[in-house]
Amino acid sequence: MNLTLKIWRQKGPQDKGRMVEYKVTDISEHMSFLEMMDVLNESLVAKDEEPIAFDHDCREGICGMCSLQINGEAHGPDRGITTCQLHMRMFKDGDTIYIEPFRANAFPVIKDLVVDRMAFERIQQAGGYISVNTSGNTQDANSIPISKHNADLSMDAASCIGCGACVASCKNSSAMLFVAAKVSQFALLPQGKVEAKERVKNMVFQMDLEGFGNCTNTGACEIECPKGISIENIARLNREYLAATI
Ligand code: SF4
Ligand code: FES
Repeated sequence: MNLTLKIWRQKGPQDKGRMVEYKVTDISEHMSFLEMMDVLNESLVAKDEEPIAFDHDCREGICGMCSLQINGEAHGPDRGITTCQLHMRMFKDGDTIYIEPFRANAFPVIKDLVVDRMAFERIQQAGGYISVNTSGNTQDANSIPISKHNADLSMDAASCIGCGACVASCKNSSAMLFVAAKVSQFALLPQGKVEAKERVKNMVFQMDLEGFGNCTNTGACEIECPKGISIENIARLNREYLAATI
């Protein structure tokens, strides 16, 4: 395939940034999207030009690092996958592809397609954990009965990889789906009950402090989430928050 790429280039956080056009040729449909970006970068390096900065790590849909807005969609046109799992067979010869960073005030651009998602880390630090006694007298986790239904829901919520696609897809740049997943995975388990009230209050407080917008139940986050996190978790977050604050 021969493709035209329109890619966001931005030297640093203070730079205004602009779209720059590139051509790539002989792209195999079996390549991943990031491999196609590697091909482009190799050609730029060969021409002594600055390669395009983009985030990636595992390239297996696990780490949540890859974060491209492709033709206006977080993680591109496929469903239930991350950018690193997107294949070039989703495009056709002659296509023009627009590639931008995830856009949100709380995710400032560091360089080109790389954004700073430390806001998510700070929300996690505010309450995304449980305290466990590790003195040697720790209760065996298997001795605490948990219903299959709740265990499944908790595991589903825990599959959130913190990629930020929910924020990038939301017209309000809301982080509610992410926070809801992180609160739900503990709210559904007995181990999470001890700090439940403080957790939800602190995480929502930090979310607001970071400048994320509010949720207006549009549901775009759920559609673009690569892990299929359900917006039912947002309803659970709201219930947990209400119970903690009255
Ligand atoms: S809820 Fe989904 S889209 Fe949002 S950070 Fe988690 S995995 Fe990514
Ligand atoms: S690079 Fe790890 S999820 Fe895409």
